[in-house]
Amino acid sequence: MSSKTFHVMTFGCQMNVHDSEWLSRALTARGWTEAPEGEAQVIVVNTCSVREKPEQKVYSLLGRLKAIMEAHPDRFVAVGGCVAQQIGRNFLARYPYVRLVFGTDQTGRVPEELDRLAEHGEGRTALLDFEDGYPAQDAVLPEDGPVSHLPGQAFVNIMKGCDNFCAYCIVPYVRGRQKSRQAADVVAECRALVQRGVREITLLGQNVNSFGLDKHGDGTSFAQLLEQVAGIEGLTRLRFTTSHPKDIAPEVIEAFGRLDALCPSLHLPMQAGSDTVLKAMGRGYDMQRYMGLVEGLRAACPDIALTTDLIVGFPGETDEDFRQTLDAVERVGFESSFSFMYSDRPGTRAEKMPFKIDRAVKGERLIQLQSLQEELTAKALAASVGREAEVLVESRSKVQGAGEDISWRGRDRHGRVVNFLWPEEAGDLAGKLVRVRIETAKKHSLWGKAVGEPW
Ligand code: SAH
Ligand code: SF4
Ligand code: F3S
Repeated sequence: MSSKTFHVMTFGCQMNVHDSEWLSRALTARGWTEAPEGEAQVIVVNTCSVREKPEQKVYSLLGRLKAIMEAHPDRFVAVGGCVAQQIGRNFLARYPYVRLVFGTDQTGRVPEELDRLAEHGEGRTALLDFEDGYPAQDAVLPEDGPVSHLPGQAFVNIMKGCDNFCAYCIVPYVRGRQKSRQAADVVAECRALVQRGVREITLLGQNVNSFGLDKHGDGTSFAQLLEQVAGIEGLTRLRFTTSHPKDIAPEVIEAFGRLDALCPSLHLPMQAGSDTVLKAMGRGYDMQRYMGLVEGLRAACPDIALTTDLIVGFPGETDEDFRQTLDAVERVGFESSFSFMYSDRPGTRAEKMPFKIDRAVKGERLIQLQSLQEELTAKALAASVGREAEVLVESRSKVQGAGEDISWRGRDRHGRVVNFLWPEEAGDLAGKLVRVRIETAKKHSLWGKAVGEPW
């Protein structure tokens, strides 16, 4: 009997990547096999709604899939994630070949539902409810082999949803209210991962600093959770994302100086450098607070690498407001940043705000900000030359040299991309740790020489 086949396509953040990886494993455990887009019986599209562009990509993808689906009426599409939550049953109305729409709390029910839909040639389902509490989802870990797309690394969800309702953001509407997971479940999952050879764990949530503070929490704070996970024997690297500056506790800052496993890097979205804009965004902190956090973090961990998210052209942002963003970015000296043009999202407060900024102005500001960031990134990378770094290898580098050696790419503890050469006959290094002496800094990555054997 030929087995059922699937293909997963993912847009959006780490949470979607993580949900998609779970889904692939869960389907595989039920006897499904992965297949290319043009052959799979079911195409699962995991969607992102954070800005207009990723939302539009979903519609153009579904348009593109029409031809395959019409040529093969036994195939169908399942749409999940944030746009699915936002648009819901309208996907069923608009696209005859979409037979399943599932929201962000319903991923756990998808494998069973896909089995049912694939076995019955007809029927269409919408799974869109938000759960009261952290949704149950079977742990499906492979007996051996990688547990994520990056060997040696794993991502662990510690909460769902967000209660912040920043004025521009659709996430609270499409991911629901904040629901913390039980600390014991998080720690048990991390322990199981480390037993399978995972070296690096990233704890995931929209606002990890408020872990445990909703009604579903079990009394464990984020700082306490970090301590428990960092204490797992065999775990070399611990990271977390995303941190909200309004909620980061002094104990979390201090953890950077105390917990050996906690990596010296933090993504701390600033969004804007002007107090007026931060207030209009409803972020709940001002620049004095933000700079105070930076100071505290550097006191606890002097070489901490800070990265951030920035929005340009929020409604009402003046040239002077924007100049303050440039100024703040320079003062902090971020290693890297993700910057976005403000994009109207349906149902948010900002969507209804006056004084929208022209697209051309937003584009101009984005270019200025990104060129400043390039300089800062170059400076941070140049400062690494001559140092030794511990690198967790991810994969072969995209560009290979002409020689016999293979060029590998990984990340150091600060999160910087490091490339180095290693003899081909040594086999696969992905998932291994290597000490590398940094010799040159490129625009976005470092190159160096391995010192000693990988382990
Ligand atoms: N929970 C995270 C971020 C989630 S969304 C946090 O609080 O930081 C990722 C990033 O997308 C945000 O940090 C923000 O910079 C950007 N973003 C969110 N909504 C946006 C919008 N409407 N327009 C442009 N950028 C947006
Ligand atoms: Fe969106 Fe703000 Fe929640 Fe982040 S904290 S997900 S930016 S509402
Ligand atoms: Fe996008 Fe949803 Fe993540 S909107 S950024 S996939 S939480």
